[in-house]
Amino acid sequence: MTVNIYRHFAKVLLRLLIISVLLPLILGDLHAQTQVAEEGTSSALIFTGLLTLFFIGLILFVIFVLDGEVDPILRALKSAYASIAPKSTGKAIPLDENHDGITELDNLIPPWFSYLFGGTIVFAVIYLLNYHVWQSSPLPQAEYAEEMAAADLSRRVRMASEGTINEDDLVVLVDEASIKAGQERFLRNCITCHGTHAEGIVGPNLTDQYWIHGGGVKNVYTTIKNGVPEKGMISWKLVFTPKEIQQIASYVLSLQGSNPPNAKKPEGNLYTEPKPQPKDSTNVARRL
Ligand code: HEC
Repeated sequence: MTVNIYRHFAKVLLRLLIISVLLPLILGDLHAQTQVAEEGTSSALIFTGLLTLFFIGLILFVIFVLDGEVDPILRALKSAYASIAPKSTGKAIPLDENHDGITELDNLIPPWFSYLFGGTIVFAVIYLLNYHVWQSSPLPQAEYAEEMAAADLSRRVRMASEGTINEDDLVVLVDEASIKAGQERFLRNCITCHGTHAEGIVGPNLTDQYWIHGGGVKNVYTTIKNGVPEKGMISWKLVFTPKEIQQIASYVLSLQGSNPPNAKKPEGNLYTEPKPQPKDSTNVARRL
């Protein structure tokens, strides 16, 4: 009798669990999918789509076909486990080895291990056919080239909509929207080397007045645009539009003097803004 009550309880709990945990998971997953779709990553979309279908199918199966009865599923899991679990060691043959009283047994290889081994062979065959014989999926290099081309196209589209900027007469942007846009790109692309607060990790500290390649918006813009490939800082000109680089440079310069914790010690030379050249021709004449 008590056993039955426990069983009943377990069933009710399981139904609640399915509804309260799996359903939100699926909804969250669907939401994530739509976001992924916006970024156009189709293989991730297919994968999460299949996963969602599987979970929905499982829930419908348990609720309607098994009427909430989970014993068949547990039995199936148990027998699946039994078929791969290590077999009894009762028949193990003691080997003629004895190390300080510790003897070794010649046990059977656990089935799960053999399946894993067989699985790697099957995987290798599928992989070979897929990538090298039928060439139905692109190899990493082709995939990389594809992604780069897509990024370049998207950059060109963005560039067409924002027009060009005058690189010879760059100014620091100070409006909130530009700084925020710069910050977003910085956090997504630069912090692995420069740190979350630009305090410097592999790359130098960007918050002090010392610069290897010169401070000021023009130099910082140029460094970001062309990179320092031989030192591990890539050129960003194929990733960002000129306007976006200007925003990132402006954000970086807005951090001047922020004195973040764990700051890397200064590298390069102290940079001071050059005095603006007098534009007035009489001034120039007087100096001559
Ligand atoms: C893979 C690591 C790496 C990434 C990612 C990286 N940088 Fe750098 N960065 C470096 C290194 C290393 C240097 C120093 C180059 C040198 O010593 O000449 C540097 C230098 C710089 C400099 C010049 C500093 C100076 O003292 O003159 C600026 C500005 C800069 N990075 C900005 C950025 C921005 C903005 C991003 C993101 C869009 C970025 N970096 C991403 C590694 C990186």
